[in-house]
Amino acid sequence: LIRVETDLEGGREAGTRGDVVIVVDVLRFSSSVVVGLACGADAFIPVRTLAEARKLGKRNRRLILAGERNGVKPRGFHLGNSPTEFENANLKGKTIVITTTNGTAALESSRGARWLLVGSFINARAVSTAASRLSEDGNGISIILASRPGCIFLEDFLCTGMLVTNMADEDEKMNDEAIAARLAWASAENDFQEILMRSFHAVYLESIGYEQDVEFCLRKDVYDLVPHLKGDTIVRFQAGQRQV
Ligand code: MLT
Repeated sequence: LIRVETDLEGGREAGTRGDVVIVVDVLRFSSSVVVGLACGADAFIPVRTLAEARKLGKRNRRLILAGERNGVKPRGFHLGNSPTEFENANLKGKTIVITTTNGTAALESSRGARWLLVGSFINARAVSTAASRLSEDGNGISIILASRPGCIFLEDFLCTGMLVTNMADEDEKMNDEAIAARLAWASAENDFQEILMRSFHAVYLESIGYEQDVEFCLRKDVYDLVPHLKGDTIVRFQAGQRQV
């Protein structure tokens, strides 16, 4: 069974069911985490508040603080929540504390999940393959949209539709949201970048100077890398790995 959950309550339920969960926040949490690990960072520590991040940073000066509020890098942080910034930073061997508005909250909501993976357009094929494999022993798959409470972000919905399309067999059972996401992806697939450049969140990010990030995040299957939450940190998922 593949479910798409559009709010944090759905995320909590997915965690309680012990599903394989994919958190999708295309702009930009999921994409930033994929890029950070691809650039050699050892791990991310996701936290909910700026205060928690600053406290960890004070305790251990080697940690890199990254994140955003209203899209912008918080005061005193080393990096924003920007995949293009991550790409140009020296992250090799670093641990990054990250706090974002919706992405880290969505991740937090499904902590009980059997496996918690992070997905975006840039690692869509890799995350779909990993989730399909991890569900082979009968676990359900839930995709959690990290959109703002009370609405969905189109980039997360279309990316989710792409993941569902990658993972669903002919006779796969799905909830209505998963069927809708798949239908939306089928009609947008050929010009999804153009469509998504006009979406609410993309337009906002452009207005504060992050057009490059938007273009960067709207590319399919660039990284063969799947981040997953292990204990309190997000690290690379290795094929053949067993959850501890
Ligand atoms: C979030 O977690 O709310 C987003 O990643 C915000 C952003 O665009 O940086």
